[in-house]
Amino acid sequence: MQAHDVEQKVDQLATAAMQRLQAADDAHSLEEWRVAYLGKKSELSQILRQLGQLPAEERPRVGDAVNRARQQLQAAYAARKQALAEAEQQRRFADEAVDVTLPGRRTPRGALHPLVRTMYEIEEIFLGMGFSIAEGPEVETDEYNFEKLNLPKDHPARDMQDTFYITDTLLLRTHTSPMQVRTMERMRPLAPVKVVVPGRVYRRDEDDATHSHAFNQVEGLVVDRGVRMSDLKGVLEQFARAMFGPDQAVRLRPSFFPFTEPSAEVDVRCIQCGGTGCRVCKETGWIEILGAGMVHPRVLDGAGYDSREFSGFAFGMGVERIAMLKYGIEDIRQFYQNDLRLLRQFARAW
Ligand code: FA5
Repeated sequence: MQAHDVEQKVDQLATAAMQRLQAADDAHSLEEWRVAYLGKKSELSQILRQLGQLPAEERPRVGDAVNRARQQLQAAYAARKQALAEAEQQRRFADEAVDVTLPGRRTPRGALHPLVRTMYEIEEIFLGMGFSIAEGPEVETDEYNFEKLNLPKDHPARDMQDTFYITDTLLLRTHTSPMQVRTMERMRPLAPVKVVVPGRVYRRDEDDATHSHAFNQVEGLVVDRGVRMSDLKGVLEQFARAMFGPDQAVRLRPSFFPFTEPSAEVDVRCIQCGGTGCRVCKETGWIEILGAGMVHPRVLDGAGYDSREFSGFAFGMGVERIAMLKYGIEDIRQFYQNDLRLLRQFARAW
């Protein structure tokens, strides 16, 4: 082996390597290049190893040449590696770029469901009249839902409020009236009661435009010494005006509930026609919104309020009916269908 030949070979190798380096355009091919030209088994390394075969005086020169070539390739390799890393970073920057001038995505604003909103409106009105608010269980006992409300087993009035039974004695409450008894029983020592109770109730009713098997009521109860039927009428009139407008009037019609005596069904003047008669009020000019009456002495006594000393009135209104009247919704089922076309109107109005 001639020193001159070796030097030439090193030159050629270096030139070829520099050219091939330009073609290495990712981490993988760059590594292949490094192994091929700078690795232990590369030609340069082999040449170094074979240096011993040259005459002693020529070795330094050739060794120098090989080392220079190695240094050149190493420097080129480092530069290429950095260039690739920078290119990669630029690519990622471009990929992940955020256009801060794009308009933001707005979170759509939610709104209260019309029923919840109606419930709140009812509560507000009664809070304004000095009532407090209570809530009771939806799973009730037969005792509170019926017995303590003067509706013993086999009472025919139970037929009007058939419901979903969980056991023989546990059921889904058919009205919020059980809370009349629960509220009075809780008052020890006895004190005047003035409470409204909103909540969901259940019945074995066929669903149609005005009936649902699950709906909402707000119960009202006032118990004190000397409470009279005229107080009931005054409170309901006040409520009707606050809810439906200052010209509203209420009408009490005789009715029957086992837990009130006397009992009344309460109508408001038809919101749609103002009382002249239309399809909504079935040409009567009035629309029923609730049942009410003077708390039956037996219910008062049973809950520990001596009926010779105390009297009271109670009412139970259907929230859906009131919301339908107030917002002109013609089918009760619309409340439960979550149709955004209906709900959006409330998002704007609220
Ligand atoms: C009652 O539930 C009595 N607890 C009301 C009461 C309370 C009377 C206190 C006396 C003293 P009624 O079954 O009429 O009564 O129901 C009251 C209101 O609930 C009705 O006026 C109506 O607005 C609403 N309602 C009744 N059944 C349904 C139903 N299936 N779907 C929607 N609303 C209903």
